[in-house]
Amino acid sequence: MTAAPQKQKKRRFLKVMLCILIMITTPALIAVKLGIFLSRAPPTDLVLVNFTSCDPKTEAMLSWNSATDTQTELWIGTSSNNLTAYTTINNSDATGIATIHRVHVRNLTAGQKYYYKTSLNGPIGSFSTAPAIAGSSFHALLVSDTQHFYFNGYYERIAQMVGKDPNPAFFMIAGDLVDEGTLLEGWSHFLEKSRPWISKTPLVPVAGNHEEIQEPDSYYWDYMGPEEVDSFGNRTYYAFNWSNALFVCMEIANGEHEDMSSLLQADQLLWLQTTLANGMSQEFRVVMFHRPVFSPMSHGIFYQSTLTTLVPTLEAYNVSLVIYGHDHVYGRYRYNNITYLCHGCGGGLNNQLIYIPSQEEIDQNVPGLVIQRLSLVPAVTKLDFSNTTLTITTTSIDNLQFDSTTLEVSTPGHLTREVS
Ligand SMILES: [Fe+2]
Repeated sequence: MTAAPQKQKKRRFLKVMLCILIMITTPALIAVKLGIFLSRAPPTDLVLVNFTSCDPKTEAMLSWNSATDTQTELWIGTSSNNLTAYTTINNSDATGIATIHRVHVRNLTAGQKYYYKTSLNGPIGSFSTAPAIAGSSFHALLVSDTQHFYFNGYYERIAQMVGKDPNPAFFMIAGDLVDEGTLLEGWSHFLEKSRPWISKTPLVPVAGNHEEIQEPDSYYWDYMGPEEVDSFGNRTYYAFNWSNALFVCMEIANGEHEDMSSLLQADQLLWLQTTLANGMSQEFRVVMFHRPVFSPMSHGIFYQSTLTTLVPTLEAYNVSLVIYGHDHVYGRYRYNNITYLCHGCGGGLNNQLIYIPSQEEIDQNVPGLVIQRLSLVPAVTKLDFSNTTLTITTTSIDNLQFDSTTLEVSTPGHLTREVS
């Protein structure tokens, strides 16, 4: 007799609580979205070094922020005690008056450590150019999808891990560095959280869909966009050699970039083929982009568009390792003698579920695909290059190494084989 009224009472109570929750959180979310509570300017004491428009043997791109529109200066040198002014300014405003400053430094020496400082009283930072001689051992670090949803996520701990590594050649991020490319507060947050590594490690980025590069006012263009424009307008893809490896960083950020047979992408496919062909004398070819090929997300084992229009080229030129993100999971795959690494666990909020297909489903759709490791934990991957081997190890933010494999190549230009 009393059960029904009690249930009604409970339901009414839950409804009231839900209404209160919505009333409290909705204005807060709107306020956060508008930057009312978390409005912040980019740090003015940090400099971001990247190689997006240059040959890292002799060049580097440096970008930094000032609090107001002003001219700033960059000093650079091979000794921290002897920095000299570098005067070339290539901001969009030729006078150099800006709040985001970017300088293309040229005529550097290969295999040399450089120190730099701006006139804004930040600390002296450093980076090293690519080695002059191919074959030098080196290592790089890798994540993807560092984007924070309303400033929430694990990227701070990822950045601390990266900062503890004393000498990575560079730090790769396979897109979605920030949640909204057109929102300066997100870039401020990313730069601030990057403080543990940013003054001593160059960044090697590709654009993701969250960088919003289709928008001219995306800050991706200001911090790491290309200097040159092509017939399609600005494009963000680039490539460089580092020791015995070719790194190809592609623009497959949004869904329309996945179809390499489209007019938009035809020029990039041609560029990819030419770049890979020129890199066949390298021991390793590493290709990084944002959108996945194979993924443990629930929408299928693979993405049809990248599988059919991109993978044949990757296979034709014996690519060693393919890196991407977008899906916030970790997955390592082997398919037709190429290793594919989905690394969406770079500090954004991770997915909560992994879809594991049956062997029958794999055989029917992508015969020969081997799923080697899946995980949901935030992690950093280390790529160790030696003369003939590439060792991939992945460590969680709780310092648990949960994935490792070594690829070996017998002859430059050949496919790798897994040796462990
Ligand atoms: Fe994405």
